[in-house]
Parts: sequence; structure tokens; C-alpha cells
Amino acid sequence: MFYLTTAIDYTNGKPHIGHAYEKVLADVLIRYRRLCGDEAYFLTGVDQHGQKVQQTADKEGIAPAEFVARVTQSFLDLWQKLGVHYDGWAATTDPRHKACVQAILGDLNDKGQLYKKPHSGHYSVRQEQFLTDRDRDASGSFGPEWGEVVELVEENWYFRLSEHTAWLRNYLESTADSVLPAFRKAELLNALERNPDTDLCMSRPKERLHWGIEIPFDTDFVTYVWFDALINYVSFAGYQAAADSGLPDFDTLWTSDERPLHIIGKDILVPAHGIYWLCMLHAMGIPDERMPRLLVHGWWNIRGEKMSKSLGNIIDPDALAEAFGVEALRYYLVRDIVTGRDSDFDVERLVMLFNTELANELGNLCNRALNMSQRYTGGAITRGRTFHDADLALQQSLADSTAAYREAMDAFEVSKGLEAIGRHVVHCNQYAERMKPWELAKDPEKSARLATVLQHLVESVAHCTVLLSPVLPAAAAKLASQLNLPGLTETGLGELYWGLIPDGHVIGKPAPVFPRIIVEEKKPAVESK
Ligand code: MSP
Repeated sequence: MFYLTTAIDYTNGKPHIGHAYEKVLADVLIRYRRLCGDEAYFLTGVDQHGQKVQQTADKEGIAPAEFVARVTQSFLDLWQKLGVHYDGWAATTDPRHKACVQAILGDLNDKGQLYKKPHSGHYSVRQEQFLTDRDRDASGSFGPEWGEVVELVEENWYFRLSEHTAWLRNYLESTADSVLPAFRKAELLNALERNPDTDLCMSRPKERLHWGIEIPFDTDFVTYVWFDALINYVSFAGYQAAADSGLPDFDTLWTSDERPLHIIGKDILVPAHGIYWLCMLHAMGIPDERMPRLLVHGWWNIRGEKMSKSLGNIIDPDALAEAFGVEALRYYLVRDIVTGRDSDFDVERLVMLFNTELANELGNLCNRALNMSQRYTGGAITRGRTFHDADLALQQSLADSTAAYREAMDAFEVSKGLEAIGRHVVHCNQYAERMKPWELAKDPEKSARLATVLQHLVESVAHCTVLLSPVLPAAAAKLASQLNLPGLTETGLGELYWGLIPDGHVIGKPAPVFPRIIVEEKKPAVESK
């Protein structure tokens, strides 16, 4: 079982392009694994507790529950619009999650992993954490990234994180795929090196924060939002769930034969996932061979800068999908970024990549293959009997591209996978130009040769349809129907042999699937304040 999760999104603001990227990436990977014939389960959701939610709801004068319900709906609507198909929805106000968090806290307390002590110090309201001197900038003050910083003395519950860091170091060093890509693992190990062993404050007094999960054995406190949120990966996987909970079976999902894969952004590797979460799992008794793998992606920036409300450069995925279409957006989000690295979000590149790679190259191949087959052979596809070198080279190009695509997708490098398909599409268009089916059609004696050339083009379209289906499911379905092979997109990669099109098969009516994006003078408003 391939169990894939994403970060759960904060419900204190609107969804933006960074959220959309992560969910589309996960959706593409899950669709790819299903194409490989594997069983797969995709969990995503929303992080609904915490101080920021409480504050924003207070400002609006409404109950936090009402506020998060509204924001949660905007995420649900967006995933539906973008064709992000998940199997489980992790909303942290779900009573089943609350029960699981409380059961885990009870177990950890019984094991002596939690203790209570007073602490005084500087506290960042924005980051919801106490600060240390290491958080001061060169001038000795706490920088603007911490927002409002106040002095607090309070008693809290702590998790004995320091008891697990030696194990963590050893686990990370000895497990090749614990953190991907490798340079992110190096960052995590460096962070572990720099930080002295401290325990994790995992409660908040209710008088300061009531919007959270109550600590079951000390009801004046709620659970720190990260401690609560991280547990979603197991709670919604059925960990310690009641038999009638409607949740999956934990041991089926969370296996050692293929360890879970958590997709997260680079900002939440250290300390949340790379340190807290792995140590929490270790304290819960999860063995090393069942530890989740962390796939860490980079950030979409805008003209080299971080997207932020204060800069007014937040890109709204909904507006982009309206302006350019869902498939153009999905394609761009996984095409113009290298998994693990940052990239600059650029609407002009979205248009350029769509127009060159999909409208021109692939669109051209589809139009040629399907239209010429209709025009010259009434749509009937006949398998070639004798092959020229150019035909064999095309078959080889397809085999090479498919192998490169699979290798890239297995390594979560979707952009490279798309490049591999693109190479074959370019090869096909060059083949068409050299073979000139429009010339062959003029000579009745060359009808067999014409049929073979068209078969090579149509067969290539069928393969590309299957390979592109994880990224462009709607376009793939349209192409499958034009090919008159409605079940094509259910074809597994294992069945992707040369000869997908049966001998004598008659294709359907062609229609353009990737119309060029024409940009009007006025740019659509995709950046919001
Ligand atoms: N709620 C926490 C995660 C808890 S997981 C147990 C959180 N939420 S978030 O809404 O701020 O971010 C959700 C995901 O979106 C994170 O993985 C984050 O890295 C990612 N992104 C946020 N901004 C991003 C970009 N600009 N670009 C790409 N992804 C980014 O963190």
C-alpha cells in the first residue's frame, strides 16, 4: 500500500498557490501509482486549531468553529475544482482525531514521556512559541518574522524530546530515504547538530488559548497546535480507532513494506516534521522500519520574493484556473519546479509552457495523427507489417521516453517525467515532417506506407494519453474518447505495450484538446492583496 499524505493547511487564511502546488503534486503521484497498478491512499486536510485561528475569529466577532468551517470550505472547493482526489480528509476538529490525540497523550504520559514545569521567557504570538536568545537577530532583538513578542511566565506540559534525539540522528544517518531529496536531509542533520537537546513544550494554558484539544489528564490546558496537527497522519489512518469509526485499518495503511510518504514544504521540515514528529512516533513505539519518509518540496516565490499578505503578491489558484483552465494550471505547477527546489511563479511562463509544449507540440501531434487518419483512411488504423528505420527509431524513442518517465516519476520528479514525454512528442512531429503523410496520400500505391506512418502517430498519441493522465486527467479522458478507446486511461503502465490500438480500430471524431492561450492586453487579476 502506498500511503501518501500532504501537510494539512492552516485555516487562518485563503488557499494560495503554494497550497495548490503541494496538493496537485500529491494528486499526480497518487494517480501515477494507481497507473502502476499499486494500491494507494491519499490523505490531506486542514489544520483548524491554534492561536491564530482564535485571534482571527475573535477579530471577526464569530466563534472559531464558524470561522474554520468557512475557510475549510474554500479549501474543499478548491480541491474539487483542481481535480485533487483524496481518499481521506483530515480536519483536526473531527472528534475521531480528538479522541486519538487524547489517547496518545494518555499513553505518552503513562510512559513518563510528559512532565509539567514552569517557564518564563519571551513568547512570539505569531509563531505561537517561546523564543530563546538564538532567535534574536544581530542587533539583539527579535526580528519582525516573530510578530508581537511578549514576556510570559507559565506552567506547561513538556514532551521529553531530548530522550529521542540520539536515536533520531542515528535513524536519519542510517536510512537512505528518511528525508528526500538528500540535501534536505543534510539540512535537518545540521539543525540537529546546532541545537542543544531541549524538550518540547506541548501544552497551552486554556486562559490564553481555548481553541484546541484538551489535555485529558489536566483540563486547564490544551494541546500545542503542532502536536495536535502532526498526529493527523496517524489518527486519520485509523491509529487506535474504534471499529465503527469509518477510518481505514492502520496496519494496512501504515506498513513497513512501503513506508508512508509525507509531502511537506521546506519550512516545516525543521523542527516540526524532521524532529518533533519523528521523535513523537518513536516515543509512541513505532519501529524504525515503519517510520514515514519525508518528501520535502521547495517554495513558489514571486519575482524572487516570498508570497505574503504584506507584499500583496499572493497568487490565487482559483483565479488562475478560471483564467487559463484547470489543466494549464496543474501542468504548470508540476512542470516548472524541480521537486525539492524553489521556483519563481510566473504567469508568462505558464502561458509559454502551455502554448509551446501542449498547444504546439502535443496539440500538433494529436491534430495531425487524428485528423489525417480521418481524412485519409476514414479513421481506420491498420497495423504496419513492414517497418522503415524511421519507424523503428520512433518505437525506440517511445520506449526510451517511457522508461525515463517511469524512472523520474518513481523518484517523485514530475517535471523530468513530463520532459521525457515531451521528447517523444517532438520526435513524432519530426517524424511526421519527414514521412510527409500528406504526400503519401496522393499516391494510391503508397497506401500501406501511409497507414503505417499514421499508425505510428496514433499509437504514440495513445501512449502519451496514458502517461500524461496523472497530470492532465481531463485532457487524457478527452483524447481517449477521440481515439474511441474510452477505457484507455484505465490502462495500467504494465499494459502499455506497442500495439495499444487494435488492428482495424476506427478512431472517433478529432477536436482540439489544447487550444492556445491567447493573452489579452490586460493581465487577469491573479494576485490578491
Ligand atoms: N498547518 C501547517 C502544517 C501542519 S502538517 C501536520 C502548515 N500549514 S500552511 O498552510 O502554512 O502550509 C501548508 C503547506 O503549504 C506546507 O507544506 C507549506 O510548506 C506549503 N506552502 C506554503 N507556502 C508555500 C509556497 N509559497 N510554495 C510552496 N509551498 C508552500 O504549515
